[in-house]
Amino acid sequence: MEINPIKSLKGTITVAPDKSISHRAVMLASIANGKSLVSNFLMGEDCLATIDCFRKLKVPIEVKEKKVYVNGKGKYGLRPPEQLLYTGNSGTTTRLLCGLLAPQRFSTTLDGDASIRKRPMKRIIEPLIKMGAKIYGTNGDYTPIMIEGTELKGIEYNMPVASAQLKSSLILAGLYAQGETTIIEQNISRNHTEIMVNGFGGDIIVDNNKITVNPVDKLFGQEIEIPGDISSAAFFIVAALIIPNSEIRIKNVGLNETRTGIIDVLRAMGAFIAIENYRDSMEPSGDLIVKTSSLHGVEIGGGLIPRLIDELPALTVAAAFAEGKTIIKDAEELKVKESNRIDAMETELKKAGVEIRSTLDGLVIKGGKMVHGAEFESWNDHRIAMSMSVLALAAEGTSKIKNPQCINVSYPNFFDTLHSIIQK
Ligand code: S3P
Repeated sequence: MEINPIKSLKGTITVAPDKSISHRAVMLASIANGKSLVSNFLMGEDCLATIDCFRKLKVPIEVKEKKVYVNGKGKYGLRPPEQLLYTGNSGTTTRLLCGLLAPQRFSTTLDGDASIRKRPMKRIIEPLIKMGAKIYGTNGDYTPIMIEGTELKGIEYNMPVASAQLKSSLILAGLYAQGETTIIEQNISRNHTEIMVNGFGGDIIVDNNKITVNPVDKLFGQEIEIPGDISSAAFFIVAALIIPNSEIRIKNVGLNETRTGIIDVLRAMGAFIAIENYRDSMEPSGDLIVKTSSLHGVEIGGGLIPRLIDELPALTVAAAFAEGKTIIKDAEELKVKESNRIDAMETELKKAGVEIRSTLDGLVIKGGKMVHGAEFESWNDHRIAMSMSVLALAAEGTSKIKNPQCINVSYPNFFDTLHSIIQK
């Protein structure tokens, strides 16, 4: 895909529905009793992989436009699949399913694409084994993963990494375990599972960074409306900040505090981001108004990292256009995402003439100098493809993005939405 610099971005958009919440809605609706309706579901490849897996587990799921109708089968209503469960590029599907399938009364095998096969699974296999699971990863750490369903017992677990996928996997397993499961986080990660389990009638008690899952006999079908994904909004936020004379409104973006680190950091960099029409519900949302701003470098690390982990590629682009130095640290987790995002951003931004170097746990970017177009690789990673597209819109000269179709995992309409607000 060829991308040329543009004059400005102006107008009102909505962005792709939240990916994390979409996955969880289908999972919990499937093991609830009764019907659920999920509106504004993300029809991206990752979430469609989740639907496909639950259909293989014999849950009737109908999809009409952006609505998903799930005929929940109850906690023990899933049935043995005839084939292996293919999770595509989706870490969330793979890891959360392990926790959900470990306590079933049948066996399953999970596998994904080449990227999934490289992503660490020991982090979920180990604690699930502590709960009594019979789960076998390839070389102990990778997919394909074989799970022999068995009874589990609750454990107390100190999370060695900040990972909502790990936490959620254990919460789902905890719903079936004998006794309570307690999970202690060092840094708080996205809490959509905790919120949604309770929304379905579950019993999870959260006390700061301590989560206690009490098993319940039944969950109950619900109607869920999914807000826009702040991780998808991030590309438009950064684009509007760095492209001159821009002003955009992004409607109905999810503003759960465990996800809004991007807004905090960009504001600290000097960004104009206003929130309007804030709706305070279990998963809060609102409109974001973003205007072109002069940005300056900041330091990003510690407990902030899990609150913006998926936005770091987009933030790296913002840093390239910000005056002075931005330091990203404590972000080793970036190495085990859909690609090694530290390597990916260092390699691609260097092609654009940006002064950037990787460290053991992050990146150092010296921004504010000329950024030029180049031929960029997407690393088969949706967030790298979209980040480099944003950079290309603000760079001098023409750019090319190779293999841009990988955006389909989280944001199939990304380029359509972008075109709707481009002023040439
Ligand atoms: C997700 C958690 C995060 C995030 C991913 C989605 C989730 O992964 O990067 O895109 O839905 O729970 P980790 O749990 O590996 O940090």
